Amino acid sequence: MRIAVVREALATDSLPLETRVAATPDSVRKLKALGFDVAVESGAGLPANFGDSAYVEAGATIATDIAAHYAAADVLLKLRPLRQRDDLGAHEVDLVREGATVLGYFYPARNAELLERARARNLTVVAMECIPRISRAQKMDALSSQANIAGYRAVLEAANRFGSFFTGQMTAAGKVPPAKVLVIGAGVAGLAALGTAKGLGAIIRSFDTRAAVREQIESMGGEFLEVTFKEDGDGGGGYAKEMSPAFLEAEYALFRAQAKEVDIVITTALIPGKPAPKLWFKDMVELMKPGSVVVDMAAESGGNCDVTVADQVVVHNGVIVIGYTDLAGRLPTTASNLYGQNLVHLLTDMGGAKGWKVDFDDEVVRGATVTHQGAITWPPPAKPAASTPAPAATPVAAPAPVAAVAAPAPVKSSGHGHGKVAREHLGSARTAPLTWVSLAILVVAYLGLSTAGSDASGLHHFAQQLTIFVLSCFVGVQVIWSVTPALHTPLMSVTNAISGIIVVGGMLHMHGDLSRPAPILALFAVLFATINIGGGFLVTRRMLRMFHK
Ligand code: NAI
Repeated sequence: MRIAVVREALATDSLPLETRVAATPDSVRKLKALGFDVAVESGAGLPANFGDSAYVEAGATIATDIAAHYAAADVLLKLRPLRQRDDLGAHEVDLVREGATVLGYFYPARNAELLERARARNLTVVAMECIPRISRAQKMDALSSQANIAGYRAVLEAANRFGSFFTGQMTAAGKVPPAKVLVIGAGVAGLAALGTAKGLGAIIRSFDTRAAVREQIESMGGEFLEVTFKEDGDGGGGYAKEMSPAFLEAEYALFRAQAKEVDIVITTALIPGKPAPKLWFKDMVELMKPGSVVVDMAAESGGNCDVTVADQVVVHNGVIVIGYTDLAGRLPTTASNLYGQNLVHLLTDMGGAKGWKVDFDDEVVRGATVTHQGAITWPPPAKPAASTPAPAATPVAAPAPVAAVAAPAPVKSSGHGHGKVAREHLGSARTAPLTWVSLAILVVAYLGLSTAGSDASGLHHFAQQLTIFVLSCFVGVQVIWSVTPALHTPLMSVTNAISGIIVVGGMLHMHGDLSRPAPILALFAVLFATINIGGGFLVTRRMLRMFHK
């Protein structure tokens, strides 16, 4: 199977410049290992600092006949949605061969006409921004990988325009106070911005309508700002919902108070399927000190700030308002690397070259595929299509009206959301260990009672042991399953220590008549505890290797 990587828009094209590329030499190596032949358009990687020779070294061929390059592709790797190629005088949707697969951003809600053209060409289009927010799909989640970079870059853009240090300094000439940074919205981009500003030494604070992010903000050394009005902004799946007018009034009052105090404001607020909520009004900008900076990360979807102009820097009343929409592209090498990895993971999920399958039973593929086999498959069908991989949606002959496709599926992704999903999985899985523990207790009780005989002191002794056993089982399950994943490493040390005690206890009981349950149980205890200790060491070694440079 042949993969084609093409050049994204250059400054000379009619579209905004795109510095990122969908495959890097590193990801090409991985694609080759998956069995694909990879061809890269000459010069495609240059804006991200990857020359043709690096791709050749990685095993790709360089294509110079671009029309033939599109036509020969089984899978086209893209970043931005399919576009008009000014240099070829044709649209990518027509250049790629009929029935091919295209992986890249697509934004079906805004691109109804393009969606119909892709369907008519029988393309399978997998929209990277539609990868569903589930734990398994984190490694394919391009929105998160790019938002993380954008959040980092937003702080650097602010620092570049701000006329002072971020960190406080005591110098011989005098004292410089640290910058105060307010981040509105603590999703993926917001948390990355908070981490970066903290790293530069600023005082950080953040507000989000979802109370669940408090822990994350505080764990980064930030202050979680609150309003007195109580309303939970969690719209499910780690997304925000629209807040009531009363809540928003309280939020605006908080921001007006903050505006007088903070030096940098980074706004990232987003509600899926809605234009960016306006949160930082003109009067708030006017309350800020001259020289302060606002970075409006939501500029592309209308902006969180009244004053923002997309892709421009505006100075209002001495306050600098940055509305860049290409923040991730301002770190093109890393952004391309991470995006390339997202694609490699998705292609692995789709079976690689040998096991290639557009499998609608796969939640990730079903959620992100917007056209397949002549049908529009977006919004994704709720349940897997029967037993065949064919799309569940009905083919449409004419372009769907924009209104009909305007409500996007819950596609946006965030680290928080993944955490939440993971926790939900944990919650539902929690019943399983309890069932096993209860079963184990019943077996032990049965074995114990059947061997304790009718002797009163034997029964008394057994009842004591059983009580300790039952209590330890439930305490163990509660302790282990209630610990947040972030604390699993220290937990492992504790369980290793407990396993050590079990080994000693088991060894003490492994004597006497081997037909009695006690030595047999002791043998199993020693066996399982040893496995636990050995496994613990292996995991620790693996984790330590991650820190080796
Ligand atoms: P996300 O969905 O993970 O985070 C958005 C956060 O805003 C959520 O935590 C949500 O609870 C919060 N929020 C919603 N309404 C709010 C309100 N009224 N007050 C306070 N918080 C509120 O989204 P992600 O991935 O972090 O992206 C954030 C923004 O950055 C998006 O608008 C995205 O389009 C934009 N972005 C911009 C880039 C650029 O180059 N300018 C690049 C990447 C992302």
